[in-house]
Amino acid sequence: MFTSTNPARQSDVVTTIPASSTEEMVAALAAAKLAQKEWAALPAPARGRIIANVGRLVEKNKEALSKLVTREMGKVYREALGEVQEVIDTCDFFLGEGRRLYGQTVPSEMKNKNLFTFRMPVGNVFIITAGNFPAAVPSWYIVPALLAGNTVVWKPSEFTPAVAHALTSLFHAGGVPTDVLKTVVAEGPDTFAALEEGLKRGYINKVGFTGSTAVGRKIGAKAGEYIQSACLELGGKNPMVVMPDANLDLALEGALFAGFGTAGQRCTSLGTLWLHESIHDEFLSRYIALVENAKVGDPMEDVLFGPMISEKYLANHLEHLKMIQPHHKVSGSTATGRITKASPRKNFVGDPDQGVFAHPVIVSGITKNDELYRTETFGPLVTVGKFSTLDEAIELSNGHGYGLSSAIYTSNPESVWRFREGISAGMVSINNSTSGAEAHLPFGGNGMSGNGSRQSGIWVLDQFTRWQSMNWDWSNKLQKAQMDLIEIKHDPKFMLNIK
Ligand code: UN1
Repeated sequence: MFTSTNPARQSDVVTTIPASSTEEMVAALAAAKLAQKEWAALPAPARGRIIANVGRLVEKNKEALSKLVTREMGKVYREALGEVQEVIDTCDFFLGEGRRLYGQTVPSEMKNKNLFTFRMPVGNVFIITAGNFPAAVPSWYIVPALLAGNTVVWKPSEFTPAVAHALTSLFHAGGVPTDVLKTVVAEGPDTFAALEEGLKRGYINKVGFTGSTAVGRKIGAKAGEYIQSACLELGGKNPMVVMPDANLDLALEGALFAGFGTAGQRCTSLGTLWLHESIHDEFLSRYIALVENAKVGDPMEDVLFGPMISEKYLANHLEHLKMIQPHHKVSGSTATGRITKASPRKNFVGDPDQGVFAHPVIVSGITKNDELYRTETFGPLVTVGKFSTLDEAIELSNGHGYGLSSAIYTSNPESVWRFREGISAGMVSINNSTSGAEAHLPFGGNGMSGNGSRQSGIWVLDQFTRWQSMNWDWSNKLQKAQMDLIEIKHDPKFMLNIK
């Protein structure tokens, strides 16, 4: 049994939901697999119309769903509205894809023969998502997967089952048959067992996973055993580089949102702020003042950030605080750790003892040998370091092996291009936050952040379709490729004879 509570007011029980067993999940996978042929037989434009219905229904229910996101997950209401808008944007993008889903016509090397490509759905897809984006990130998988003719079994985070239930019901109300999208809430080990069994029995033809690098590694390995490549969207330690020629006011605003928006619980949240030595001290003291003075607390109020997703996320944050070393300087609040009446924060809005709130933390003096340099902290903790040349900043930005998002603040185009070329991250922001990617550009990372899969826009179609190529010879004879070459008359010795 899962009980999800409001992390800003833990006495508020959002929902109680029975946990699915491994057998129940395997049964759901089997049912979805069975439904896939008929779903794929529906013309893609008709599936597009269903996605359009879902988009309009989400739009109609935007406020209710956003309030539920804030209540169950804890992000501030303004961000929750943005998250739900991201679901709508994803539907709006893919409803049109139903009328495209283009294949190609390709010339043949022979006469009276034609070549074609078709996008084929992969089959049934098992999607496992995290609690920090309980609606938007699932929609990045579910919407294109369904549009392309796949069925889906979705295992959302056990911390956000109410949002998962609400979102699933909007898909069903929009016309997605219940066996075409099935949602199961379950424990991690049971989910992994169902994954293995589903792969073994051929009920799973693609796996999508958003979450930690450690779990992604196991899921990717399991999928690989069954000759599949999982779509993995994993952690990040996203750098933000501030050059001496940057608009510092803008960079401060960006670093505040990137570092502490969603209480730092985005995979795109700012990891380390790299400051050029010539502006380091001034920027850092202004940043500290901004963070110290920011309001934290009730996510329905006008605050920088609300609670952490759950006690588990807070416990993780407390572990990361242990990585702070004597050579570091800690600032950002009146204390570190949990905010309580006994350990209060200036500018707290609401009653801290009712929820899972954490003090924002800035750890400066970071070097590349520190554990905090290479650890994704996934909480309200920003590390700050110093650099002297752009090359050094790029090296520091790449050195930990993550490669999801990155940002540079500069007014020099040459620095922009050198940073873009040198950074190993899948996403680069220029004079903008590391977080807040738009819903129709490729989203994904490299190295420990992902295995090269990309979500969003047309690019995600490569995750949920496979190319089928067709050749059609209408010459009424066996023409052999590479062997029956058309003879081309030419003069290979020809030279111009110009005096
Ligand atoms: C995530 O945290 O898994 O770019 C996704 C962003 C959001 C999505 C984050 N649009 O910050």
